[in-house]
Order: sequence, then C-alpha cells, then structure tokens
Amino acid sequence: MRAPAMNNATGKDLLALVREGDYAHPGEEEAIRLLLTGVRPDGHRRILDAGCGGAGTAAWVQAHGYGAVTGIEIDAETVRLARERHPEVKIVSGDLRRAGDAVDGPFDLVYAMTVLYAVPDQRAALAQLGALAAPGAELRLLEYADPHGRFAAATSGRSSYAWWRPLEPGRLHELLSGTGWALAESRDLGAQFERWYVELCTRIAARREAIVERFGAEWLAFASAEYAGILEMVRAGELGGIFVRARATERVPLPPATRIVTRSDGGTEP
Ligand SMILES: C[S@@+](CC[C@H](N)C(=O)[O-])C[C@H]1O[C@@H](n2cnc3c(N)ncnc32)[C@H](O)[C@@H]1O
Repeated sequence: MRAPAMNNATGKDLLALVREGDYAHPGEEEAIRLLLTGVRPDGHRRILDAGCGGAGTAAWVQAHGYGAVTGIEIDAETVRLARERHPEVKIVSGDLRRAGDAVDGPFDLVYAMTVLYAVPDQRAALAQLGALAAPGAELRLLEYADPHGRFAAATSGRSSYAWWRPLEPGRLHELLSGTGWALAESRDLGAQFERWYVELCTRIAARREAIVERFGAEWLAFASAEYAGILEMVRAGELGGIFVRARATERVPLPPATRIVTRSDGGTEP
C-alpha cells in the first residue's frame, strides 16, 4: 500500500468509504448540486469532468441526466479504480495541461471539483479546457480558495501544502484572461467548506474501526490529522472555498507545451 497521501488512489479509496461515494471533494452530493445550480438535465449535453478522481461525481452527474460525461484524470491508479467502479462513464488518462492530446471535445460544460489547486500551471490547464469548449460553453469550478492571501504564510514550512495553489478570488479575471474563458460569477463558499469539513471529521471519527481494519492505523491517524488541520485553516480564514462560473469566449491559441512530472503523491510539477 502506498504511503499516506489523500490525493493518491488509496487516499481516495479511504475517502470513498468515509463519504459513501467516490468523492474526493468536500460536501459530497450537496457540493455537486451547488456546482450545477441552474443547469437543467439534458441528455445531449457533452460534459468534461476535469480531474475526475474516482469518478463518483461524473457518475452522479451522468446518472442524473445532465449529459454524457467524459472524465480526465492524471493518476493512472485512480483511473483504474474509477473505470472499475464506474464503467458507464468514459474515463480518459491524461494531464489537464495537455487535455487536448487526451480528449477530442468539444464540450458544452466543463467542470472541476477541487482539482486546480493541485495543478502548478493553472492557466495552461484552463487554456486547454478553453480550447475544448463548444461555442457558448460554461466552465464551473468548485475549488479551494485563499480568501485573504494568508495561505502561503499559514502553511510555510509544511511540505504537504507546498504544492497547493488555492484560487485567489481577487485574481480570477487575471487567471482566466487569455484562456478562452470569461468570468461570469464567483461566490465565496467559506461557510459551506467549514460545515463540510466538520461533517467529514465527524464521519472519520464514526468510521475509525472500519478505516483501521481496511487501511491500517497509520492511515486513520493521517486522515484524521489531515482533515482536522484543514478545518482549522478554514476556521482561521487561511483556506476557503469558492464557486466560479465562466463562459467560453473566442478560441485562443494554445501556449507552447511544457515538460510535466507527476509526483508520487499524485500532484504534478511543471
Ligand atoms: C481532490 S481530487 C478531486 C477528484 C474529483 N474531482 C472529486 O471531486 O472527487 C483531485 C484530483 O485531481 C487530479 N489531478 C491533479 N492534477 C491533475 C492534472 N494536472 N490533470 C488531471 N488531473 C489532475 C488528482 O489526481 C486527483 O484525482
């Protein structure tokens, strides 16, 4: 079994046990409903789940009639797990920063749930997603945020957060500019993230025996500490959540390719 890291396949498997679904985002189905606010079911809609993880969200979205979902995921072991658990969803192995090499598009709706924070070059990923967008397409994100610009100072010296890049609400226009997306709306989800992490910590405590039995005591200790730490940061305003909605603009030429390395914890380096 791999060393504890919530972003790898074992971490996601543990979260699936705790969350009772293949979700690696806070808020489970409530968060998915929030992400899709105002979107009507339409079986013809072409949807891309960017960084689909174990594909619980993709399967839920497809099963609820929002459209045909393709999931793209960088971690090979997670892709295997997702395909095994959700064979009804098309899951493609690939890096968002090269999404155009992995999937054809176009897509009418592109969404990502707690993914961009783990992507070093967010603009490259957004530009690839923009190039895959159909005219009039929407981008929806439910992401970690750095609401007051305090995340870096709060986590300095903690290597497990060194690769996190929560979105800065005041810089969304800049982040999206030139990527083929125009900001339509953003909403602070700090209160929701706090409640969702309280619930997650409660669920972990309630399932401690099952976690130890299936994953071992080391994983229980790791997961408990990880989410207690996140909750503490959310309460202190050092980490938050954000909902972002953007509309496809005109096609923008893609930037030159970069060399990409995948780390053992599932994150990536440029
Ligand atoms: C916190 S999980 C969320 C998974 C899923 N969106 C969900 O809500 O359950 C983040 C996922 O993004 C994937 N990921 C990170 N960087 C990526 C990249 N550059 N391209 C594609 N997937 C990536 C990770 O492997 C991981 O499965």
